[in-house]
Amino acid sequence: MSVTVFNPRLDDANVTPTTASAPTVAALKDSSSASMSADQAPTKKVFVTTQGCQMNVYDSGKMLDVLGDSHGMEVTHNIDEADVLLMNTCSIREKAQEKVFSELGRWRKLKEKRPDLVIGVGGCVASQEGDNIQKRAPYVDMVFGPQTLHRLPELYDQSNEQRNIAPKNRIGTIDVSFPSIEKFDFLPEPRVEGYKAFVSIMEGCSKYCSFCVVPYTRGEELSRPLDDILAEIDSLAEQGIREINLLGQNVNGYRGEKDDGSICRFAELLHYVSHVDGIERIRYTTSHPLEFTDDIIDAYAKLPELVSHLHLPVQSGSNSILAAMKRNHTIDVYINQINKLKAIRPDIHLSSDFIIGFPGETDEDFQDTLNLAKALNFDHSYSFIYSKRPGTPAAELPDDVSFATKKARLAEFQKVIVESTLAKTHEMVGTTTRVLVEQVADRHPDCLIGTADNTRTVMFPYNEAQMNELLGKIVSVRVTDFVSPHMVKGELVEVLA
Ligand code: SAH
Ligand code: F3S
Repeated sequence: MSVTVFNPRLDDANVTPTTASAPTVAALKDSSSASMSADQAPTKKVFVTTQGCQMNVYDSGKMLDVLGDSHGMEVTHNIDEADVLLMNTCSIREKAQEKVFSELGRWRKLKEKRPDLVIGVGGCVASQEGDNIQKRAPYVDMVFGPQTLHRLPELYDQSNEQRNIAPKNRIGTIDVSFPSIEKFDFLPEPRVEGYKAFVSIMEGCSKYCSFCVVPYTRGEELSRPLDDILAEIDSLAEQGIREINLLGQNVNGYRGEKDDGSICRFAELLHYVSHVDGIERIRYTTSHPLEFTDDIIDAYAKLPELVSHLHLPVQSGSNSILAAMKRNHTIDVYINQINKLKAIRPDIHLSSDFIIGFPGETDEDFQDTLNLAKALNFDHSYSFIYSKRPGTPAAELPDDVSFATKKARLAEFQKVIVESTLAKTHEMVGTTTRVLVEQVADRHPDCLIGTADNTRTVMFPYNEAQMNELLGKIVSVRVTDFVSPHMVKGELVEVLA
């Protein structure tokens, strides 16, 4: 994995780490593009930090890919040997946004010692702030948004050519526009390591939940054409990928064009992906309940490749808060969807996102949220105190709940979530679970580890002769022991696929 991941969800106390791996950049380590001959300039090295969601993790991998492809840059994890520093930022909550400038302050000191350093800021804070980034941090050389990262090579050339001009007077070093969805047409062929990969199927969000900045920072929803997505997945499968995680801010709202001009909906896309040779597991992140339609639920009956895990953010258990959040559905609708899914997949694991302390949240609203979490017994969940985001409709709402009350509510809520996470992991003992085998366990070399449908890490002993036939396979494991809230141990039963 080539990116340093800061997950704002992990920044909050309660959370369950997701196990999806970052896109890797094997391409950049390809010595044919990066090697140096005597008359060539030394190979430049690029370092990236990533804040935020899985979309950002995916984008960071692509930033490294484009600079590797265009300039033969190599990835480094050591900031002190880097020539180019990239920060892929998140603005979903204030805390994440503030980290950008404190981290940039540290990078400024590095640049004082090494004036040749090129500093680039991308992602949602860049998109929102545009040229304000350089007003606040004039040592930043390039600013780009989530939709313009494919233009990094040009931005880099421009900032190098105009090295002696103050950043604020340079031309062509800031691009935070939303140029349709052209970025995917300019990205190099995906190359990966391991057995899991993300594939971005749509960009942006048009749901405009009243608290959320995403529609403003990533733009309105745009879906990639079906054939482009399938070509990327074919290529990944040929390189040994077995599990695909389809990404989008409102992923189940996918409406991509087919080559005959008709529209492919998300459920149909799931069918196509399941037919790609070599793909044995499909996940997707993140869904909106409004678009969680019956055809998607039906897909769980027909497609064994769909994991028995659904992350479906609900945000609140109170209908009046849901209305103020402009989620446009009720709790009954949400519960009904879950019940329909459970009828088809009784073993389905559930997770969700919650916002605690939304403006106007009463004790009763909060109790409704607590009761919903207890009733649905989530496998894990993310919860955050509401953060006021400038420019969003919720920022205008009167908020009479004190921060102390919000903190106390969050602590109470997270206790419920942690207890149900723990109970779910204990419940696995004695059952058999499907696991994608990924690697030898670092700290237990006599064991292999992989991920179960419900994202728990599963460890099991193997003998040397079995190793190559097990890595990258879907196996069934009988769980024998609880190891930690997110990890269990077991015994291999059989290879499934
Ligand atoms: N569409 C995706 C991404 C949304 S951002 C999804 O539905 O998951 C991820 C989560 O961040 C949201 O589900 C929400 O719970 C949280 N979030 C978004 N804006 C927030 C805000 N202003 N304050 C607190 N949490 C927020
Ligand atoms: Fe944000 Fe709501 Fe879209 S949470 S990403 S506006 S579905």
